[in-house]
Amino acid sequence: MNKGGTRKVFVTRKIPEPGLDRLRIACDVDINPSDRALTKEEIISGIKGKDGLLCLLTDPIDQEVITSEPRLKMIATYAVGYDNIDVTAATKHGIPVSNTPGVLTETTAELAWALLFSVARRIVEGDSYTRAGHFRGWAPQLMLGQDVAYKTLGIIGAGRIGTAFALKSKGFNMTVLYTDEQRNETIEHELGAKKVSLAELLKTSDYVSIHAPLIPTTHHLIREQELRMMKPTAILINTARGPIIDESALIRALKKHWIFGAGLDVYENEPTIPDELKTLPNVVLQPHTGSGTIETRTKMALMAAENLIVGLQGKRPPNCINTEVFQK
Ligand code: GLV
Ligand code: GLV
Repeated sequence: MNKGGTRKVFVTRKIPEPGLDRLRIACDVDINPSDRALTKEEIISGIKGKDGLLCLLTDPIDQEVITSEPRLKMIATYAVGYDNIDVTAATKHGIPVSNTPGVLTETTAELAWALLFSVARRIVEGDSYTRAGHFRGWAPQLMLGQDVAYKTLGIIGAGRIGTAFALKSKGFNMTVLYTDEQRNETIEHELGAKKVSLAELLKTSDYVSIHAPLIPTTHHLIREQELRMMKPTAILINTARGPIIDESALIRALKKHWIFGAGLDVYENEPTIPDELKTLPNVVLQPHTGSGTIETRTKMALMAAENLIVGLQGKRPPNCINTEVFQK
């Protein structure tokens, strides 16, 4: 029996301590002792006898996991994206699911800008070149890149992160285009951004940055056909989810210089990255650290913990994704 009805929760991997401390005040906390992602079987065994689950974007939380423990009452993910969770199955079983929106918006938008400049000005290539001792003095045509100011910025998915990313272009006097199901009055008003079709965005943008969630309609949104629409000087940035781009088509585009370069934080089959992609000089590869700052990861940990605690009290968690669960 639980002492005093204390809720038992399983945390699939160590998150920043303040989040764990918050959880420990309200719950019995069991944490994956190893600092590695768990397999589905290990997650199933971890949630045995638990009321709550705090999971990560690397955890496959499918129907089998969700139904494996009848006591399970709440799932809180330490991420904004939740394409790894079968939310429909959770809803069907009356289990609220929460995510961590908002706190990582600026941080992820900043990483997208870091990638954009890295590719435009060939920072990673330049660093390797310089460290390797190849720099023999200033040269008229050494490692030339692309300007950013006064160029056209194309945003695929103008939600919270896409909006924050777009607003940061103000200092560079860019023309901003976007695609989204909905109109975004903030960027239209602030930047004169124009909502266009995906084809128009790809054909006219110098920089294309993806900020859409991974859902069936965005899977392989960018394939060979779309990459061929882009300018040979264009740069593609993806800090959203890997499967939005057909990675093998992107490798061809980079090799054949259909585009100038790409900056990626996410991959189609994480953590696997095709060897060929790693050999290309015109791509900057980051290990999925969009929200990876000390401040933001701490906020995400606290937010996930708070949601889990509230959900376990039978109340609606502040960042509930499937609010239908409470509309009965
Ligand atoms: C990171 O990719 C997240 O979804 O939080
Ligand atoms: C995610 O937070 C988004 O809406 O962009």
